[in-house]
Amino acid sequence: MNDSSSRKKLRLSTIMSRKRKGQKIVALTAYDYSMARMLDEAAVDLLLVGDSAAMVVHGHENTLPITMETMLDHTAAVSRGCKYAFIVADMPFMSYQASHEQAITNAGRFIKDAGAEAVKIEGGLEVVDTARAIVRAGIPVMAHIGLSFQRIHEQSGAKVQGRKDAGQTYLLESALALEEAGAFSIILELIQDDVATEITKKLQIPTIGIGAGNACDGQILVTNDILGMYDRMQPKFVRRYANLGETIVKAAKDFGADVRSGSYPDDSETFSAK
Ligand code: KIV
Repeated sequence: MNDSSSRKKLRLSTIMSRKRKGQKIVALTAYDYSMARMLDEAAVDLLLVGDSAAMVVHGHENTLPITMETMLDHTAAVSRGCKYAFIVADMPFMSYQASHEQAITNAGRFIKDAGAEAVKIEGGLEVVDTARAIVRAGIPVMAHIGLSFQRIHEQSGAKVQGRKDAGQTYLLESALALEEAGAFSIILELIQDDVATEITKKLQIPTIGIGAGNACDGQILVTNDILGMYDRMQPKFVRRYANLGETIVKAAKDFGADVRSGSYPDDSETFSAK
C-alpha cells in the first residue's frame, strides 16, 4: 500500500479546525485492521469504530448487545491498521450510563488499551454531565444526537428525530449543552436538514451528519453500507459506492467451481519435490 510521506497524522485540533476553514470532514466506520488500512489509504479523516459492528459484523438486530470487550478488540485492530485518520471508539450501551466512574473507566480503556484517540457517547441533555466527566478526565468526547440505536426502544424504532417543535428544541438545546460540556464534535443522525442546519450554524464545534442533510460540517456513513456489504437495512441517505457483496459471492462461487472441477490448485500453486 502507498505511504505518502507528505501526509500528516490527523489530530484533534485538525478535526476541529476544519469547521473554521470550511473544509468538510470525511468520516467512515471501521471495525478491523484490513479495512482500516484501506480507508486510511483513501485519506478518510476520521474512523469511527462504531457499535454498528453489532449489526454489520456480528449480525445482531440492533447495537444493544455488543460488549466493551468486543468493542475494545475492534478498536485495537483498527488502530493497528491506521496511521493517519483520527480514531474514535463508540462506547457501547451500558458502558457509560451507570455512573461517571464507570464512564471514565471504560472511556479510559479505549484510549489506554485499544489506541483510540476519542470516544463517542449517544444521547442529548441526559448525557451532558457524563460527557463533561469524561472530558475532565482528559479524554476527547464526540457527542451523538438524533436517532440513537442505543435508545431504539425509547425512540420506538429508527425514525427521523425532531419532526415536531418540542423535538427540535430538545435537539438544539442538547447540541449546545454538549458543546458547553466540552464535546469536540457532534454526530447528527436522522434529523431534518433545516434542524441540522440551524444546529451547525449555532455551534462552534463541527457537526457530522448521517441522514441530516448537506449543511453539516462533515459526513459519516457505515462503510459496509456504502460498499454494498450489508443489505438488512437500506436507509434512503446511504449512497452505495460499490457492490462488494456481489463481488464476494461471485469470487467464492468461482473458487468453489475451481475446487470442484479440480482446476485449483494447479502446478504453479503447488509445492513439488523439484
Ligand atoms: O455505530 C455507528 O456506526 C454510528 C454511526 C452510525 C454514526 O454511530
